[in-house]
Amino acid sequence: MKLWGGRFETGPSEIFERFSGSLEFDQRLIIADIRGSQAFARALERVGILTAEERGQIVSAFDQIAAATSGPGFFEGAADEDVHTLVIRKLRESAGAVADKIHTGRSRNEQVSLDIRLWLRDECDDLRALLAGVMRRLLDLADKYSGAVIPGYTHMRRAQAVLWPHYLLAYFEMFARDWERFGDARRRTNVMPLGSGALAGSGFPFDRDAIADDLAFDSVTRNSMDVSGDRDFALDFLFACTVTMIHLSRLAEDWILYSSEEFGWLELGDGVTSGSSLMPQKKNPDSLELIRGKCGRVMGCLTSLMVTMKGLPMTYNRDMQEDKVPLFDAGDELAGCLAMMSTVIESTRLNPERPASAAEESWVVATDLAEALARAGTPFHQAHQIVGRFVLESVRSGKKPSDWTAEEMQKFAPEFSADLAALLDPSKGIHSRELPGGTGPTAVAAALANAKHRLGEMIV
Ligand code: ARG
Repeated sequence: MKLWGGRFETGPSEIFERFSGSLEFDQRLIIADIRGSQAFARALERVGILTAEERGQIVSAFDQIAAATSGPGFFEGAADEDVHTLVIRKLRESAGAVADKIHTGRSRNEQVSLDIRLWLRDECDDLRALLAGVMRRLLDLADKYSGAVIPGYTHMRRAQAVLWPHYLLAYFEMFARDWERFGDARRRTNVMPLGSGALAGSGFPFDRDAIADDLAFDSVTRNSMDVSGDRDFALDFLFACTVTMIHLSRLAEDWILYSSEEFGWLELGDGVTSGSSLMPQKKNPDSLELIRGKCGRVMGCLTSLMVTMKGLPMTYNRDMQEDKVPLFDAGDELAGCLAMMSTVIESTRLNPERPASAAEESWVVATDLAEALARAGTPFHQAHQIVGRFVLESVRSGKKPSDWTAEEMQKFAPEFSADLAALLDPSKGIHSRELPGGTGPTAVAAALANAKHRLGEMIV
């Protein structure tokens, strides 16, 4: 069955049919297409195209079709151009001639926009729930080692000591913004397009607000050409997916390093790692590598749809059919990565002595010393110089911070008062960073409590 054909002398060639058909991938929209069509049948009744009885027949036939979709062989042998065509054919097969009225005043251009919006808003909810799962596991891991001190890095060089929970909370904040981004994407998606027709607005006076209420949309779209020509709501979703993947990828990268022999901070669970077919000793972080690898794929989905859209003349063009594969792929991959990351986090153990000694063996305390001098009155620029020379001397003589005594320090520079030697321990300096957002223990405890509270409020 075709939804067009009268104007043609011959049918489409086989190669064109195969080339242009989208059923293979857009069948995933079938429930959205059916629910949208049921709401549309009710709208057709309200404008007098369907009687109450016809509407009743159509709606219940659609319920049966929806129930059958999950059964065996539903799509078998279907040669329909797309999911919209298939749904109408199924309706005709089960409800008879009344099905011929269902597409009155409706275009597939608005229908596809509706279906994607219905699908996407559920997808946003599902992904937000998975994101909340990752965030919960991060907080659990922060609680488990709440006093652990690690060196924080810039340029992949040991920079300043931070608390382990402070590090995890940085990722919590990124994921919390991703959670909000999916909320924003959902809000822009949750606008009802039906009534737009092919591009000019339907020729039937539908009560569009009633359709929006019926399908639980927040509002109706304002311009029919915008509906058939635009997909920026889908780009919003793909952007949110991509940024989340970037955050996951960076966490994965950190933990690939932190669980290496060189770092030895983390032990990943056996259940999320794999061995080598040749080297018996290997325990490889494949789960994290795949998360990092899939980031490129999801980013590719965003790029793909952006490039598809960039040169399209108004309004609908068949190019836009290419929106679905990247949308589904990005959603699936992100869902898989979020679930995987939750399991990885759950399985991970911190070996706190390793990062603690990495901090102690390095000069992460240098800033603490310079700031202490500045607090005691030495202008910071000079303090920076003094500590810089102190570090240079230590590096030259192979001394780590704990090798110095207060007397030796004072001999090196009279500005180093006796109490300053305490700051040679990396776990001391963090106490000067108690301002909001800092890594002081009290500030971090408050941030952790705040994060738990916010996570509790993140209901979808
Ligand atoms: N399968 C099409 C798509 O995804 C549905 C819209 C078809 N519209 C058309 N004018 N051919 O874009």
